[in-house]
Amino acid sequence: MHIDDALRARRSIRAFRPDPVPLELVREILQAATLSPSGTNIQPWKVHVAAGAVRARLEAEVLAHRESDPEDKAAEFPRSSKRKEPYTTRMRTLGKAMYGLLEIPKGDQAANWRQWGRNYQFFDAPVGLIFTIDKDLDAMSFVDLGIFAQSLMLAAAARGLGTCAQGAWNNYWTVTRRVLSIPEDEYIVFGMSLGYADETAPVNSLVAEREPVDSFASFHGF
Ligand SMILES: Cc1cc2nc3c(=O)[nH]c(=O)nc-3n(C[C@H](O)[C@H](O)[C@H](O)COP(=O)(O)O)c2cc1C
Repeated sequence: MHIDDALRARRSIRAFRPDPVPLELVREILQAATLSPSGTNIQPWKVHVAAGAVRARLEAEVLAHRESDPEDKAAEFPRSSKRKEPYTTRMRTLGKAMYGLLEIPKGDQAANWRQWGRNYQFFDAPVGLIFTIDKDLDAMSFVDLGIFAQSLMLAAAARGLGTCAQGAWNNYWTVTRRVLSIPEDEYIVFGMSLGYADETAPVNSLVAEREPVDSFASFHGF
């Protein structure tokens, strides 16, 4: 597959078929992702991969915690909830398109809550990944982790698998840490769903808009 075709083939998948992903295939995708660059080659990425009964327990415990303590939304590491333009508009555009496909009317808080909760079911994907990083590393290692995640998503896409990166897993990290026995000295940075896309689900037809090159790049000395 041409790399640009893989870039186009990867889109966030938010409804999966139950078909299992064999461990060997998960390992192959992770192996491919290790080819990612990282500053001074420290390869700071750590991935906790959950399937089967463990994944089911993670889902059940996080959802139960979420119902019992809905306000427990803080990430483990500093994050700002402030958004300004042009980001607010882009975020709203995505939300409108996604909730439109899901047929969730604007302002339906109960339906919004339920749909966001689908994150913690990995959108029914059979494999859930939790990405962590040692707490004593600096911001550059978060960059490395993001690059690694994109490599992983492209390697998955090239093999016909769908993924969705999920910052939602910032929340309820106390539960995730406990269920997956994640060491205290690692930050839980984000999660990811991995599996086979349910092509019949309208939400998977979402194509998120992109801004043109001239909106973010400035050229000097050409
Ligand atoms: C770091 C990161 C966190 C994300 N968190 C979530 C999430 O929690 N839930 C979700 O449904 N999508 C999440 N997404 C997916 C984005 O909404 C998606 O990448 C964006 O809208 C562009 O669409 P595309 O991935 O289909 O190209 C996340 C993506 C990234 C890179």
